[in-house]
Parts: sequence; C-alpha cells; structure tokens
Amino acid sequence: MKVLGIETSCDETGVAVYDTQAGLRAHAVYSQIELHAQYGGVVPELASRDHVRKLLPLIRQTLAESNMTVAEIEGVAYTSGPGLVGALLVGAGVARSLAWALDVPAIGVHHMEGHLLAPLLDDGPEARERGRPEPPFVALLVSGGHTQLVAVDAIGTYRLLGETLDDAAGEAFDKTAKLMGLPYPGGPQLAALAEHGRPGAFKFARPMTDRPGLDFSFSGLKTQVLLAWQNSDQSDATRADIARGFEDAVVDTLAIKCERALEASGCDTLIVAGGVGANRRLRAKLAAMAARRGGRVSFPPMALCTDNGAMIAFAGALRLQAGQYDDASVRVTPRWDMASLPAV
Ligand code: KG4
Ligand code: ZN
Repeated sequence: MKVLGIETSCDETGVAVYDTQAGLRAHAVYSQIELHAQYGGVVPELASRDHVRKLLPLIRQTLAESNMTVAEIEGVAYTSGPGLVGALLVGAGVARSLAWALDVPAIGVHHMEGHLLAPLLDDGPEARERGRPEPPFVALLVSGGHTQLVAVDAIGTYRLLGETLDDAAGEAFDKTAKLMGLPYPGGPQLAALAEHGRPGAFKFARPMTDRPGLDFSFSGLKTQVLLAWQNSDQSDATRADIARGFEDAVVDTLAIKCERALEASGCDTLIVAGGVGANRRLRAKLAAMAARRGGRVSFPPMALCTDNGAMIAFAGALRLQAGQYDDASVRVTPRWDMASLPAV
C-alpha cells in the first residue's frame, strides 16, 4: 500500500510517501524557521498561511521523487493533533480533499505516535543486523512540546509512565539559548556551542532525580542558568561552558529516568524520538547506558528526529493496513491524549 503522509502541526511542512512493501519512497520537509525567527518563536497564523503556500508544491515534489502519479496513492495519512489548530486544519483539509477526490481511505495520525514510531523507520547497519525493535519497549519522547516516558505494550497501546511538570526538554534548550542571546530556535545552536564548553566548569542540578518517580521538571534549570549567566563575565568561552553544564544536566536527568523506566517496566529496549533525540550527547549517553544493561536503544535517523511527513506516512500506513480510517469530515484534535488511541 502506498501512503501519502502530511505533517503540518507546527512550523514544518512535511510530506512523504511510505510504501508498505518498498519502504520510504521519498520525503521532503520545508522549515518555516526563517519566517518566525524575527519574532523569537512560532506565530500560529503565519504558520498556517505558510503551510497553505507550501503544501501542494511539496506534495507534487514528493510524488515526482517517488516516481508516482497522484492516481497511484492508495491512502492518505495526516497529522490531526496535537498541534496548532490552524496549521493542523491546513494539512487535514488538503489530505481529506485529496482522499475524497481519489476515493481512497484517509486517517488522522497522532503527532507523537508518529515521532514514537520513527525509530522503526531506521534502516541503518544496526537495524539491518538486529532487526527493527519490537514492542514491548519504553519510549522517551523529547521534543519542543513534550517530554514523556511511555510504555509501548504494542503498537497503538501506550501507557504514560512519566512526563514533564513544566517545560519540555526542547523548550528548556530553546529558552536557555535565548537567555544567553542565541537566535531562535536555540536548541541545536546551544548543543553545538556545548561542544566547545569545558565539562564541569558549571554544575547544574539534575532536577527530580533525588526522589523516586518518572516525572521531569526543567523550568528551574533555566533559572539556574540565568543566574549563572548574569553573574558571569558573559564571554563566548563562558557561554560555551554554561551550555555544556546545561546540556550535561538535561542529558543526565533524561538518562537516569530512562534507566528507571526500563527497570520499572522490565523492558530491555528503549526508543528515543522527537527533536531532542538529535542531540549527540544524549544519543551517546543512552547508548552507553543500554550497553551497560545489555539492552538496546534505537533512535530515528537524524533527518527523522524533528517533524517530518515520513513518520506520519508510516504510522498512518500501519493503521490503514489494519483497516482503520476516518470518515470524510475535516476534523483536528489540538489536544489529544495518546493513551486514548485504539490498538492497531
Ligand atoms: O520534534 P520537534 O521537531 O518539534 C516538536 O514537535 O516540538 O522538536 C523540536 C525541538 C526544539 O525544541 C529544538 O530546540 C530541539 O527539538 N532540538 C534539539 C536539538 N535539535 C533539535 N535540542 C537539543 N539538541 C539538539 N541537537
Ligand atoms: Zn514534533
């Protein structure tokens, strides 16, 4: 089955074709970063309007790269939540209309389920050697909007083990970068700067690791960084040292909670998804933890860590193949609990 995937939940327009026999045929992402940079964050109405401009050309481009005509699409998957309501409606409107015109089924996909299943799209050397990870496993979802530990009993059956009580990890990266004067979106830039910082020059807390439980809190860390930055010489070298101290604190905290979640659920396999999953130090730390435990950790390919259409096409294809699809109305769910999803 050849499924067109459409992602428009925030500030990236993503389109892909996933073929359940041949795998990922093509995917393309258009990022609106430059559009929003001058405002220091995503402006929802501008995001919606830009999805309107970019979505159809991106669909044409992706079909051309897949060597497919539009008539060969056998199903359409689109992000129907969570996300910005206007942005979601653009993708849902186009996806539903296309499916109706082609007389093929369409399904609204949960954005975080897309992220969560993205590691299963990995066809790198380890995935080829050891096979794709199979549930049950624990998933760490770390993006700009979410930080969650989820027990995946089966694909489609999700139990929340813990989540952030305030800022998401990506949000903490972005806000910390901003308060040290880095341009939007600061997360990846803060991580790049941390490469030049001295480990241990600044030591920040590992929040909520001194008590049992799997919840997170990152907003206090941001305040610690603000104080350290305000009381420093504010040189480039100091900025890099603070970035390193901050990154180490977030990475250690995530790793400690992941290990606890694996122990609590009796699983060997951890999968990591969402934009912060692109962080190299997090990848290395979790790989070392998994190796020490004799378990396994899987990440999405780098290009599929942040928002993209491939993860939506893939998650939608699994559900469409299982006979699940939505009716013809254009409906989105800006707030949506993943535990409420039906089993596949
Ligand atoms: O999954 P995503 O593209 O969008 C959301 O659904 O939120 O994640 C974006 C988040 C941003 O907060 C960004 O700063 C963060 O992922 N991010 C990183 C890195 N690359 C992206 N954070 C830390 N290190 C990175 N290398
Ligand atoms: Zn996302």
